[in-house]
Amino acid sequence: MSGPLLPPIGMLAELTHRCPLQCPYCSNPVELLKANREMTTESWLALFDQAADLGVLQIHLSGGEPTLRTDLEVLVGRLADRGVYTNLITAGVGIPEGRIDALAEAGLNHVQISFQGAFAVTTEKIGNHRGAHEKKVETAGRVRAARLPLTINAPIHRHNIQEVPAFIDLALELGAERLEIANVQYAGWALLNRNALMPDRAAVERQVEVVRQAQEKLYGILTIDFVTPDYFAIYPKPCMGGWARDAFVVAPDGSVLPCHAARTIPNLAFERFGEKDLAAIWHHSPAFNAFRGTDWMLEPCKSCDRKEIDWGGCRCQAMAIAGSPHATDPACIKSPVHARMATLIEEATTVADSSDFQYRRIGGRASGPEHVAPAV
Ligand code: SF4
Ligand code: FES
Repeated sequence: MSGPLLPPIGMLAELTHRCPLQCPYCSNPVELLKANREMTTESWLALFDQAADLGVLQIHLSGGEPTLRTDLEVLVGRLADRGVYTNLITAGVGIPEGRIDALAEAGLNHVQISFQGAFAVTTEKIGNHRGAHEKKVETAGRVRAARLPLTINAPIHRHNIQEVPAFIDLALELGAERLEIANVQYAGWALLNRNALMPDRAAVERQVEVVRQAQEKLYGILTIDFVTPDYFAIYPKPCMGGWARDAFVVAPDGSVLPCHAARTIPNLAFERFGEKDLAAIWHHSPAFNAFRGTDWMLEPCKSCDRKEIDWGGCRCQAMAIAGSPHATDPACIKSPVHARMATLIEEATTVADSSDFQYRRIGGRASGPEHVAPAV
């Protein structure tokens, strides 16, 4: 560990794994939790109180689809009382009229709506939900009517990378303050569907240029954040800001995790809220301390001058591709297995059947984009 352990700044609260959409790029674990495993209202309130006591400044209310929790207003209200900034991360589908107003009334600070495509046909195909696009547009209108700041999140992959210019137009039409062009991170369902989701290099290069030009042109009008695609990078991102450094995740059953994919790392035991206090987990959990700071690093990270910039990158990606959570993130050009990223891109874009992805589903997997679920 380098330097004193500071309080966490952010927390991602996965309130539920239930969701009306079935996006194949979802970063939730493939083994999704059913509703009967979710924490009660009282447990979430107790956890939020402890998070505020610990110093957490902002909580992202996520899922699955967090608005499926009927107690969401109560949860938001408690966080507002405790002075914690709240960001609702929603698919924007199936939210009844008046709910956004009620959440704003309870003290919600910000809303982020994901769009699977810039056009209805793409949104419906990727989310496997008929009518999804127009419902999202309607929700975005309600967010603006409630005078809440709005971010549009566009998870980018092979099936929508050509829509990046249209995503920018959509964000402007919807009156968003911010657009996240977020190249998919291959964890959870996205890792399962990597071959079907991976874009080709030429499309990624075009996208980078489109985003660069739009950032310049729309400066002061629309903030465009760009989440770079790891497989095409030469340096990794500081995943979650560094393992257990300034943010953490709570799963629907109260498991407290350093990141959303941490369970893919063998031999780490994760603690659950209720069995232990949040502060005890943050400070003393062996899983949190396993890759905190720089002491755990091996070469080339150990002597690298970027080690306190990216904290060695993503441990879960190192596990998935290099076969060890102690390895340098293969996204890094200094990783001995960096070339595997190019091989994986090549395999995915030349060999794989691009239409054959598996939809996210609790308790099972469904194949093929031809199946579109009925609207709910
Ligand atoms: Fe980051 Fe490690 Fe690569 Fe250095 S060697 S840039 S610390 S991942
Ligand atoms: Fe686990 Fe990056 S997703 S460290």
